[in-house]
Amino acid sequence: MPADRLQGLGTTIFTEMSALAERTGSINLGQGFPDEDGPPAVLEAAVAAVRGGANQYAPLPGVPALRAAIAEHQRRRYGLVHDADTEVQVCFGATETIAAALLGLCDPGDEVVALDPFYDSYRAGAALAGARLVGVPLRPPEWRFDPDELAAAVTERTRVLLLNTPHNPTGRVLDRAELEAVAAVCRERDLIAVSDEVYEHLVFEGEHVPLATLPGMAGRTLTVSSIGKTFSVTGWKTGWGCGPAELVAAVRGAKQFMTFAGGTPFQHAAAVALATAEEHGGRLAGELAAKRDRLCEGLERAGFEVLRPAGTYFVNADVRPLGSDDGVAFCRDLPERAGVVAIPTSVFCGDPERVRTLVRFAFCKREEVIDAAAERLARLRPGQSG
Ligand SMILES: Cc1ncc(COP(=O)(O)O)c(C=O)c1O
Repeated sequence: MPADRLQGLGTTIFTEMSALAERTGSINLGQGFPDEDGPPAVLEAAVAAVRGGANQYAPLPGVPALRAAIAEHQRRRYGLVHDADTEVQVCFGATETIAAALLGLCDPGDEVVALDPFYDSYRAGAALAGARLVGVPLRPPEWRFDPDELAAAVTERTRVLLLNTPHNPTGRVLDRAELEAVAAVCRERDLIAVSDEVYEHLVFEGEHVPLATLPGMAGRTLTVSSIGKTFSVTGWKTGWGCGPAELVAAVRGAKQFMTFAGGTPFQHAAAVALATAEEHGGRLAGELAAKRDRLCEGLERAGFEVLRPAGTYFVNADVRPLGSDDGVAFCRDLPERAGVVAIPTSVFCGDPERVRTLVRFAFCKREEVIDAAAERLARLRPGQSG
């Protein structure tokens, strides 16, 4: 029996939907993992690290080559300067980094403010720390938040503002004015920001602006990212946090007793990969933009109302034109009706009613898989049979 604070978190919808995909032979556009491997040179770097003997525990902060590569990436791309020893921490993915940050920074009873919908580990991460996640609505179809609502969500108990841009599940890339509103609240209310930027390279419109680059934010922001999305190696679970030494020390302290340090060969390979992040990320973003267009057109042809994303690899679509007003029921039926799996957007929401009619599809799949899914979905169009 889980402890009280973990009650209600349950198993994730991904487990249920992936099992359903398997049972029905459906195309799985639910969970967001690419169906193609990362660049050969990066895969080879992992093999070479294994063969070269990098098979024991890494140092707790992460292997020096990766920490240096992370610091160099932040400097060259964003002008953010970090000491690779005290201001960078490598973890098992962004997920562990965020969980360790919340454990290291929050006391039981504290509050964590996040844009709602949010990536599903956020609520669980806060719960592990005994903290409470407080959502600030991002409203469809534009997925914008109201700065007054953000300011009003902050209380005496708020310890961390947990941001995510580019944003999962909406595909929004926050603009500079929105980030300025976030930064203003952090400065005025003396909050720590944890900024999840795992999709930093997967932007099709606009530009990714790290929260830490805004005035007064470098000293209070832990920036989180990972190698998984940029290099299509989500299973490597190699991520990191960088920021002021006190924040990194909080992550390190918690991580030390969770997993200590590991994934050593992947850390070495991630260091090799990061040197080409802009070049590879730019190419991948171009390919993903084309896949986005392909899937969006397919969804529109099938009758969905599509909310076109500016980044990430997710698109949300409204099922109302298809005669449904419930995304959960729609997704449960979709494998049988059309042989495709999607995820109801409401599972990412503290307030599910607000996005009740939306469902999320992932487009980080091969073109032929997207085309096959679109063909199957076309059967849903009112008036189509079979
Ligand atoms: C917003 C967001 N943060 C974090 C993660 C997880 O990153 P990692 O696999 O590096 O733990 C994901 C993966 O889907 C995500 O969408």
